[in-house]
Amino acid sequence: MIDIDNLHKRYRTADGHVSEVLKGLSLRVPASSITAVVGPSGAGKTTLARCISLLERPDSGSIQVNGTDLSLLSGEALRRERRAIGTVFQSSALLNRKTAWQNIALPLVCLGVVERDIKVRVGELLENVGLSHKADAYPSQLSGGQRQRIGIARALALRPSVLLADEATSGLDPQATATVLDLLRKLRDEYRLAIILITHEMDAVRAAADAVAEIRDGTIARYGQVNDLLACPDSLLGQQLLPLSPVTAHSDLLLRLSYRWDVPVAIDWISRLSQQFALQIDLLGGHVEVINGQLAGRLQVGIRFQGERLSQARILALLAQSGIAAEILACAPELKEAV
Ligand SMILES: Nc1ncnc2c1ncn2[C@@H]1O[C@H](COP(=O)(O)OP(=O)(O)O)[C@@H](O)[C@H]1O
Ligand SMILES: [Mg+2]
Repeated sequence: MIDIDNLHKRYRTADGHVSEVLKGLSLRVPASSITAVVGPSGAGKTTLARCISLLERPDSGSIQVNGTDLSLLSGEALRRERRAIGTVFQSSALLNRKTAWQNIALPLVCLGVVERDIKVRVGELLENVGLSHKADAYPSQLSGGQRQRIGIARALALRPSVLLADEATSGLDPQATATVLDLLRKLRDEYRLAIILITHEMDAVRAAADAVAEIRDGTIARYGQVNDLLACPDSLLGQQLLPLSPVTAHSDLLLRLSYRWDVPVAIDWISRLSQQFALQIDLLGGHVEVINGQLAGRLQVGIRFQGERLSQARILALLAQSGIAAEILACAPELKEAV
């Protein structure tokens, strides 16, 4: 696990100004979990990544990996402990004149690992990222997604416990992105990695993260477990996770719904309720998706009664039984009194 505490980082710009990019940032990522770090461009995400991998020295604060404070180390001790952190960047930065196999082997060669062990380890890693058949390909012969997977394999060569991915899927097409994110989830479980997934794409957060942290003004302004945010999508992060931009309509009842996490929602709830109670349920906006194997959703619907007028309380109760939390946004006046 990695524990970042009260990190400060200032830069002196060319014109002599000092700007503080990280202002006491704290974040903990347990083993076997993925925390997405989101935030607008220029928020300091890459600065955080560079501080964690100690490419930049933080001005103050600590970075503990499995209990060792890396920010206190230097020289040989730092080089040794830094191996606990593997890094992948947006462009995988593979060496173009070396094959996939040689690129992955590089950190092991630098460390003086014996050849037989290198062969075994690189073979394992290639298999793990699903690219054994590309061992002899050069980076130019690989797709963007394949290059990223080789970059991930290289980052894991020295068996780190933390994997830091800075915009690792930016610039990839949706299918390659999905493959890379699936791979990160698999590696999280297989190697018990603490993964920090820096991204500006909420799709990537939904697809892969266990928790999400938002950087604003140099600190973590918001943080939550993805499951909690999905169950209570009215938080700002929840809204970003499940965006909703409804159209307007005339309805007897206008509702904003969120699928609960503790009670699974059946996909056919709209047709079931509308048939059973003679309701016309108009879908006005929403986002429904399977996340972590369960249906997550945030919707806006309009309800029109075609038969008996049900009371608001009755509607809310029917939705609650289906695992859906509802908030009434507007209703036709006579509906309030109906029993
Ligand atoms: N080496 C540097 N020297 C001076 N300013 C820097 C340096 N690196 C980053 N910055 C500044 O720090 C801020 C955060 O940058 P960065 O961490 O790259 O943001 P992000 O990755 O979230 O887009 C920006 O305002 C950027 O201009
Ligand atoms: Mg960046």
